[in-house]
Amino acid sequence: MLNQKKTLDTIKQYKSNQQISMLTCYDYVFAQLMDEADIDCLLVGDSVGTNVLGYASEQEVTLADMLHHTKAVARGVQTSFIISDLPYQTYETPEQALQSAQLLIEAGADAVKFEGFYPDIVRLLTAHNIQVVCHLGLLPQTALKKSVQAVDKASIQQLYRHACDLEYAGASMLIVELIPEEVAKEVTNRLSIPVIGIGAGRFCDGQVQIVYDVLGLTKRQFKHVNRFFAFRERLAEVFVAYKKRVQQQTYLDITHSFHVDGV
Ligand code: KIV
Repeated sequence: MLNQKKTLDTIKQYKSNQQISMLTCYDYVFAQLMDEADIDCLLVGDSVGTNVLGYASEQEVTLADMLHHTKAVARGVQTSFIISDLPYQTYETPEQALQSAQLLIEAGADAVKFEGFYPDIVRLLTAHNIQVVCHLGLLPQTALKKSVQAVDKASIQQLYRHACDLEYAGASMLIVELIPEEVAKEVTNRLSIPVIGIGAGRFCDGQVQIVYDVLGLTKRQFKHVNRFFAFRERLAEVFVAYKKRVQQQTYLDITHSFHVDGV
């Protein structure tokens, strides 16, 4: 039997049964690999800007960038659920958010995500049958400093309130970034929608990571990342070896060449 495309209902059911796996994904090849590995959700995050496009910050990412990468990911996916980010300044009003979200959905996203506390946007998008993932805690698009959030009583209470209000407005899932494990656990218990953590400890309904961090492709190492292996160092070795073999004329042997008689 062919595997079926995952829906939000599938993912929501996991909340009480199994941990939800989510990774950022920016292209066709990685989308195929993650889909074959049965990763539940692929996040076409605006982290594509700093991780793939060489931008200095998430603020440089455009809607055109997001559409391009969403289409590439969608081409590689059969079953995983695809979430695409609304980039910076493309959701300044609920109406602008709706227009931007509709384009991402047309490009192949199953749901859209935006950062911050905007219940009006959630309401308008869900009224138009667009599923919405919210993002609280550290908000990379606007954060001045990438530090742990919700560390004092007032901001912890505010986070709980915002999370509950976004669920009430119709959000389908919540991502919490760089907050203490204890706070993330409490948010997860309070909400009935899935809460996915990044740098939010062990007790959310699932984990999301930047795929290049997990692979060890990123230069920096973060406390919240458990690298599987040092891919960056390995790739560097491969490229050096390739250059050496080309220079030594040992990269190809006779079996890799095409031949014709009589020349
Ligand atoms: O853009 C992104 O990759 C994200 C994750 C940090 C959750 O929003």
